[in-house]
Formats: sequence, C-alpha cells, structure tokens
Amino acid sequence: MMLVIQGLVSPVEVTVLREAAQDLAFGDGKATAGKFAREVKANDQASPSPERDAVLARVERALRESALFRSAARPKALTPLILSRYRVGQTYGLHVDDAVMGGLRTDLSFTLFLCDPETYDGGALVIEDTLEARSIKLQAGDMILYPSTTLHRVEPVTRGERLAVVGWVQSQIRNGEQREILFDLDQSVEAVFAAEGKSPQFDRLAKTRANLIRMWAEL
Ligand code: NI
Repeated sequence: MMLVIQGLVSPVEVTVLREAAQDLAFGDGKATAGKFAREVKANDQASPSPERDAVLARVERALRESALFRSAARPKALTPLILSRYRVGQTYGLHVDDAVMGGLRTDLSFTLFLCDPETYDGGALVIEDTLEARSIKLQAGDMILYPSTTLHRVEPVTRGERLAVVGWVQSQIRNGEQREILFDLDQSVEAVFAAEGKSPQFDRLAKTRANLIRMWAEL
C-alpha cells in the first residue's frame, strides 16, 4: 500500500525546517548508500550536527503524532532520518533500498517533501511496479509512505532545489497485506464508534482488530 499523508508538517513548520536547513552543512549522499545504489546516487545529505538533529527531531515528532502514519505503518522502530538535498543535475537512479539498515528491517520507506513543487523542476520520486511507474511530487509538508520492497528513483532536478526528509520503518506487522487489513479496520472501528458509540458491532470489530494484531504482531 502506498499512502500520501497530507500536511504531516504544517506550513509554518515547513518554513521553519527549510530555513534551518539553509544553515546546515551537507555532504555526499553516497556515504549512506549500499554498494550498488552508490553507483546511481548523486545527492547531498545534511552532515551530523546538533542543528541538523533538531530539524530531524521535529519531523520525528510529527510522525509520532500522526494517527494516520501510526495506523498505516504500525512502527516498531524508525531508522535515523536523513535530510537530503538535490540541486540542479542531481538525481538518484533506480534502486531498491537496503533490506536492513542499522539493525532494522526496512518494511516501509517515506519521503517528506519540504519544497513546494513550483519552486523546482524534476525531482519527482518515481516508484515502479510491474504494471507502471508512478511519479510522485507533493506539496511541501506532505509525505509519501511506500513499501521498501519497490524499485524507485528520483528524477534529476533541472531547476531549483529539492529538500526532503527520508527514513525507513520497521513495522510491528511485517506483511504488507496484513498491514493494509489493519489500516482498513482502524477506519471501520473509528466510523462505527462515531456512528453508534460502543455498540455490540463496535465491540466485535474492536475485538477482531485486537486479535488480528495478537496473531500478527512482532514485538
Ligand atoms: Ni531509496
């Protein structure tokens, strides 16, 4: 399942993050790429500093506070986030993300766009499946969550600058189909509660969800 989370970060917060990013030092993104991805990766990443960590901590907080993210990803743990920058001519060719990063299994990948799409050309995230390639370029503050199992790339930037925060989730629910069932159930549980309160139907649905989590969760 792929999901766009609109407004993960508010417009005011995006401006704060973007301005903070202007003052950070950036290094070559190849440093964090696997052996094969390194050959196609040409971007910059913010170098470690307390200021960078403050920016990334704000994004991490937004993720933790997003009910939609929690429902779709069911995070067990997040990898350290990366603030990436693509300037004119920079790109990230077709690759699959490493299966294990820093001791975590990568089930889901995400990209939070920090620049408005009118301010740069190119720079779309293109996710390929067997049927088609989807091109994703979101408003500043919006995030795409997608399975780490996919081949994907970032198109070359031809004008302006593309800033994004990327990261990976190890989910409590390893199987993507099971995750989607629980995501749908979350919405049904909420809808039934809103319509009927704690009715017998609500109780049965809530019991079903809890017991599926018991069956599937890895803690
Ligand atoms: Ni990737």
